[in-house]
Amino acid sequence: MKPLTIVKLGGSVITYKDSSPPRINFKNLTRIAKELKEYKGDLIIVLGGGAHGHQAAHSHGYANPESPKDILLKGIPPIRHNMSELALSVETSLNKEGILTVTIPPFCSVTLKKGVIHNFPIHIIRKSLDNGLVVVTHGDVCFDEEKTAAILSGDTIAVYLTEKMNAKTILIGTDVDGVLDDNPRLNPSAKHIPLINQKNKEMILSKTGPSANTDVTGGMAKKVSELLDIARKNRIIAIFNLTVPARLKSLLRNEPTICTRIQP
Ligand code: IPE
Repeated sequence: MKPLTIVKLGGSVITYKDSSPPRINFKNLTRIAKELKEYKGDLIIVLGGGAHGHQAAHSHGYANPESPKDILLKGIPPIRHNMSELALSVETSLNKEGILTVTIPPFCSVTLKKGVIHNFPIHIIRKSLDNGLVVVTHGDVCFDEEKTAAILSGDTIAVYLTEKMNAKTILIGTDVDGVLDDNPRLNPSAKHIPLINQKNKEMILSKTGPSANTDVTGGMAKKVSELLDIARKNRIIAIFNLTVPARLKSLLRNEPTICTRIQP
């Protein structure tokens, strides 16, 4: 088996997050496909929701734990439609670069219980990788055993698959340089944190907050705590700025670049 790398493409990088109706950022997508092209190991690409996921989720009550069942149910088709459209565009951009790709949407096989992954079959993902295909999957709406349906974020999928499939590397692409000690949009002198481990995690988690916009899945603090849970001695974990050309390429080559690394 080749080493497995999981790359999350943040929704704010591959879509215009504030655009309504949602719009895909083809410029970034085309460049990202070129950066992914030269990677030769097994690869799973996890898409965030961006404009395609978060707006429809928000307007159908997914940010509110008290939302009635019928409102949530009405949200399933538009969320699924938007996420399928986004995944198809990513697939097309990757195929254009000669990357043979299949999309495996979580809605079709994953169930949640109180918003947490309950059942996540990986057989087809493993088979696809073993047969030389690159797998695209994405944040999605999924049925929940206890509360109709809930949003499964791309970050949670990336973390779950890293642990379950024993990935060597997990790279979380966002629109900031990694973790900063304050909100860079409100405080331009916010300082970049190159490494998070057990020694500084409490201090950092107390400073990082949820992201702005219509994000229904938790933002940076949640990313960091989920990643700390899967940090292992020989695992490469990084949160990086996917809007800056060549950083993804450097990380895939295991070369130094600006990012926040997470270690045990
Ligand atoms: C959200 O996934 C998925 C949906 C809203 C359907 P993420 O939470 O990983 O998306 P981004 O990267 O923040 O946009």
